[in-house]
Amino acid sequence: MAEHVRVGIVGLGTVGSGAYRLLVDSAAHVARHAGRPVVVERVVVRDPHRPRAVAVPPGLLTTDIGAILRDPSISVVALLVGGLEPARSMMVALLESGKDVVTANKALLAEYGPELFDLARRHGRSIAFEAAVAGGIPIVAAIGECLAANRIESIRGILNGTSNFILSRMEEEGADYTEVLRLAQAEGYAEADPAMDVDGTDATQKLALLTHLAFGTWVPWAQIPRRGIEGIDLDLMATARELGYRIRLLAIAARAPGAGGGGVALRVAPTLVRLGTPLAETRGAYNAVSIVGDAVGRMFFHGLGAGQMPTASAVVADIIDTVVGRAAITFRTTGMLETDAPAGRRLEAGMVERHLLRFLVADRPGVLARIAGSLGEQGISIASVIQHEADNATGAVPLVIMTHRSPAATVSAAVDAIDRTDVIRGRSLCLGVVDD
Ligand code: HSE
Repeated sequence: MAEHVRVGIVGLGTVGSGAYRLLVDSAAHVARHAGRPVVVERVVVRDPHRPRAVAVPPGLLTTDIGAILRDPSISVVALLVGGLEPARSMMVALLESGKDVVTANKALLAEYGPELFDLARRHGRSIAFEAAVAGGIPIVAAIGECLAANRIESIRGILNGTSNFILSRMEEEGADYTEVLRLAQAEGYAEADPAMDVDGTDATQKLALLTHLAFGTWVPWAQIPRRGIEGIDLDLMATARELGYRIRLLAIAARAPGAGGGGVALRVAPTLVRLGTPLAETRGAYNAVSIVGDAVGRMFFHGLGAGQMPTASAVVADIIDTVVGRAAITFRTTGMLETDAPAGRRLEAGMVERHLLRFLVADRPGVLARIAGSLGEQGISIASVIQHEADNATGAVPLVIMTHRSPAATVSAAVDAIDRTDVIRGRSLCLGVVDD
């Protein structure tokens, strides 16, 4: 077997500890796939004295990333710290000092992808980021390599394990939102700032990366329309169920008609998915991605999208890919994150789909007719209506309307207009619906 490869790990948190454990415990297996032994030479941590679940020989630990930068024998580095800084400066320094980098940090790539990938290219290095999207599911390789022959038509993904865990527990056990969020944190699913999970930021950053891989267009993640799961309550879940749906935080990228065929419609939002479809059956911290390619048809990927060992699985696979040279080839041939998106491609926020609308309305004659009239004026056709008798003394009742397929922008404008009328008694909700 060839001489061993020395790797560095920066960050020994949840994912870093998992990657270290896998590299050590499965060393023989990793060596077989890498064609040579892969040895962890250095581990950069903030505090070398902190008690850890993983036993790293003290001689490997350092607080100085310079120990890796100055060591030419270390060729591959797993950068496993979250957030933007110092992660960005570390990535720059690693690339400039000639290291190939593997990372799970989607926030970093979503924010600075174009410049970091350009930098890697200029230095003849690669960045592998399978672990940055959907944890253990090999979706980056699937889109970037295995489905390369396809024109991708759409991607629909449950890309945030924490919010899926919360929605599942709320629906299945009637559990309290805050309590389940605490559980997700204890399981190591949630981000350091869990607001990024529940407000859709994490899923949006992942969608931006997938959009680039699938559609060759770089969309700054903050421009993608995004809503989180904070407004979802048990009543809405029950209504969805009554109609034959379940609520999932769905990230969608789909070729949009118009814009010369070059448009991609994007959004992250709680969405109704039909019961019995694979997306609806994705529970707990699982992630799922449904992709339609013009040659392959619809494909479905399902697996753990968060947590220590599923994410470590992707990190170590990327280390192996880098060692054998596959990562460099993929990085070069897919032209990852070239700063200039192909001409004619534009971001379009408009989706055409069915919508579930929930209005809290005054319980008095003519209200339903008025709302139906407003929707009709905008050309929005109603598929079904549910209004249960109010069992409270407030005089307000939820009115739930399922529409036929309509442009999201039209529906949203119609809901805004209805919200300005005097029949509305509370916050209205508008959710897209996915039937297949
Ligand atoms: N916090 C993320 C999630 C895991 O809950 O899916 C890392 O991306």
